[in-house]
Amino acid sequence: MEGKKRVAVIPGDGIGPEVIREAVSVLEHLRETHGVELDLTHFDWGADKFLREGVTLPPGALEMLTQEFDAILAGAFGDPRVPSNKHAEDILLGMRRGLDLYINLRPVRLLDARLTPLRGRTTDDLDFVVFRENTEGAYCDAGGFLKKGTPEEIATQEELNTRRGVERIIVAAFEYARAQARRRVTMADKSNVQRFGGDLWQRVFNEVKAKYTEIEANHQYVDALAMFMVLDPAQYDVIVTNNLFGDILTDLGAALQGGLGLAASGNLHPGRVSLFEPVHGSAPPLAGKSVANPVGAILTAAMMLEYLGYDAASGAVEDAVREAIARQETTRDLGGALSTKDAGAAIRQRISSK
Ligand code: NAD
Ligand code: IPM
Ligand code: MN
Repeated sequence: MEGKKRVAVIPGDGIGPEVIREAVSVLEHLRETHGVELDLTHFDWGADKFLREGVTLPPGALEMLTQEFDAILAGAFGDPRVPSNKHAEDILLGMRRGLDLYINLRPVRLLDARLTPLRGRTTDDLDFVVFRENTEGAYCDAGGFLKKGTPEEIATQEELNTRRGVERIIVAAFEYARAQARRRVTMADKSNVQRFGGDLWQRVFNEVKAKYTEIEANHQYVDALAMFMVLDPAQYDVIVTNNLFGDILTDLGAALQGGLGLAASGNLHPGRVSLFEPVHGSAPPLAGKSVANPVGAILTAAMMLEYLGYDAASGAVEDAVREAIARQETTRDLGGALSTKDAGAAIRQRISSK
């Protein structure tokens, strides 16, 4: 990825455009402070376009993203006017699957001790990352109805676990632990009930962990892990799990960090165009009111910068976010009084060139 990096920006629905506007302003600000040269191209994919034109992910979009972009920065997809969620499924899951973005990396990190609902916890107690499998599992869209609409109706919903898919996400978690000098990898499943998929996860985890003897590897059932995330989060460094469990655990993780408005994520396939988006959705009740917290989107932009090789700029954004939070320059979900725009501006103002 030589030269000027090309970023596709897809603000999406609801609060997506409001928080992405602040993330983009931060990226533009970094041109002056850190010499970050990004070529940003906006796309209007989302509910409005779907309702207007019937288009979700336009034809050829995946090829274009692969050939013409280094990264994608997205807001959120989901709109009450589209109860089927068809456009979100096509656009978001379409990019995750179609670009084979098999790692959904979701950090759970407490930026300020005052933010967590957990009593007595400090920033040292909450600092782990979740490796969520991102292309299969319960998201494979396989299943069907029998006798739909009758009292005898049967609905099946299948879960797909491929050897290759399970192995590559577990290997990615161990590789990350090794590269970041993390002590432990915890695998979460429900193999006491899901005997087939769970069995595959168990076998692959045991095989892979044997190749990383310097890293402690343990297993917890996902229900127990959810409990321990609340009671003893300090035990976690890297958690690896399937698509659905990863989805649920990372909303819980977001709450422990101070709320959904803070959580960032990267949908990755190392070496390929990757997609960065806040963990939160389009939050329809907040849309258009300039009350949404832009921090999740801004930290997501920081993750993207790191992926693109701008480590110093990425670190500067994180420092600025931490400082703004410490000074209570925040939106109301964090107890502050700022609008989305003013919270974004407060962060930009604190980004210094180093
Ligand atoms: P949500 O994440 O949109 O919001 C849940 C609640 O979290 C909000 O009502 C709000 O109280 C809080 N919240 C979320 N983001 C916030 C922010 N930036 N600042 C302050 N508070 C924030 O989840 P939902 O209500 O279950 O879903 C709404 C729509 O978004 C649905 O259509 C859903 O499918 C979609 N969704 C999309 C994505 C995505 O595109 N990545 C992720 C999750 C949900
Ligand atoms: C997320 C979201 C998505 C998911 C939805 C909108 C399809 O909840 O990114 O966490 O379930 O993955
Ligand atoms: Mn989710």
